[in-house]
Amino acid sequence: MWHHLSSDWLNWADQLAPAAQKINQHLIAALDLPALARAADGRGLAVLDLASGVGEPAFGIARMLAGEDESSLHGQVIASDIVPGMCAGLAERAGAEGIGNLSVVAADMEKLPFGASTMDAISCRFGVMFCNDPDAALGDASRVLRAGGRAAFMLWAPLVDNPLFAAMDGVLGNMLGTGFADAGLDLFGFADPTSATARMARAGFGDVTLTTHNPAGRIPERAAFWKPQMEMLFGPQLRKASDAERGAIDAAMFEALRPYVTDGHFQVPICFHVLAGVKG
Ligand SMILES: C[S@@+](CC[C@H](N)C(=O)[O-])C[C@H]1O[C@@H](n2cnc3c(N)ncnc32)[C@H](O)[C@@H]1O
Repeated sequence: MWHHLSSDWLNWADQLAPAAQKINQHLIAALDLPALARAADGRGLAVLDLASGVGEPAFGIARMLAGEDESSLHGQVIASDIVPGMCAGLAERAGAEGIGNLSVVAADMEKLPFGASTMDAISCRFGVMFCNDPDAALGDASRVLRAGGRAAFMLWAPLVDNPLFAAMDGVLGNMLGTGFADAGLDLFGFADPTSATARMARAGFGDVTLTTHNPAGRIPERAAFWKPQMEMLFGPQLRKASDAERGAIDAAMFEALRPYVTDGHFQVPICFHVLAGVKG
């Protein structure tokens, strides 16, 4: 299904980049790149970003490792995704932004085309839950990490804590007959902290931590702020809808999210986890 969504992801990527960077900081902090750099003793870090889509958080990590600031961080990022269209879009964006220490490899994160113990860090933002076998993906992440390397996964917390997704699921289910389940999207497979932590430990990671974050933006109530996420998850279905249906969807989304309007602004929280561990 992701094969049909790469154009939607590319359409919105630049506009969403500032908001993405705000939440990415939690994922990047969990990698503790400064500690990995100290352990690497001058060798540049090798970071693999899995299920990169069209660039998050690979771009931010590559910029940190570009060696252009006063920190001692430097290294290379490999961005990867199973969908060739996502990889092509990502490569095009990286070229346009002049990011030189990033390469792109099309890869299924369940069977990575990299040798054992070749990476210092692995990042993955909202990706592992979409694998056919997420435990195989966690296991392969552990395989390619060096001993002492760190992995961090950003994961959606439950639907009930993500009102934007709850509204989208209800509205599109009613209007187009396709919610997350019908579209084959399982966003919440790692929503339960206890089970997510246990899966990470079973994959061979030690020092497993899970932190939960609940930021809320402040967006003028005139803005149909759900549009990017909706198109990036349901682009093909929305393209088939009539103008009248799309207008009705926006009206129903506004109604569903109206309880979150304060002072002329939507303040809709999102809730996600960062699950991290160290290769033993
Ligand atoms: C929700 S998007 C996240 C993209 C990006 N990390 C971000 O946060 O903007 C999920 C991505 O996972 C990719 N994906 C799904 N299954 C995969 C797999 N088995 N291996 C690698 N990538 C996969 C999809 O192609 C899609 O780009």
